[in-house]
Amino acid sequence: MNVLIVYETKFGNTKQAAETVAEGIKEVEQIKTEVINVNEVDYGRVRDFDAIIIGSPTWGGNCTDTIKNFVNELAGLSLSGKSYAVFDTNSGIPLLSKAVKKMEKLISKKLPSFKKILPGLPVRVKGTKGPIVEGELPKCQNFGKEIALNLQK
Ligand SMILES: Cc1cc2nc3c(=O)[nH]c(=O)nc-3n(C[C@H](O)[C@H](O)[C@H](O)COP(=O)(O)O)c2cc1C
Repeated sequence: MNVLIVYETKFGNTKQAAETVAEGIKEVEQIKTEVINVNEVDYGRVRDFDAIIIGSPTWGGNCTDTIKNFVNELAGLSLSGKSYAVFDTNSGIPLLSKAVKKMEKLISKKLPSFKKILPGLPVRVKGTKGPIVEGELPKCQNFGKEIALNLQK
């Protein structure tokens, strides 16, 4: 099993969350993972992965446009048999929704054959630039481990 983690980041927090999710995944034997910035994805290799985990900062209550474009690109590849999960970072702005819900909605619309491994994980950062709030990184690690255990079943 091979897991691709794709993230976008402006201030580095979502990258840190992605790397921590990867640490959790690597705790489980026989599950391999790669962490890649959304701007560096090689679409020719996406097919090689069994699961795709997507992380986005929350901007204006949604994921970023680059992450939306990534999902649209995946939709053009006619992939089948893939699993997915999402996470976001957010500064907890009240009333605005978090990117996880929007990403799950987008994926269920654009990639209906993709199977959700786990409900998306929202990760809280302090203000706009971070850092990630204390207690959130262990949740990222556990999220990764749970993803890997689910894939192992
Ligand atoms: C243009 C912009 C819009 C944002 N909108 C929201 C928002 O709607 N809700 C929220 O909780 N945080 C919002 N934030 C805070 C981001 O979620 C925060 O900067 C991000 O999680 C940090 O991740 P990064 O370090 O990976 O860029 C916004 C930040 C920026 C720069």
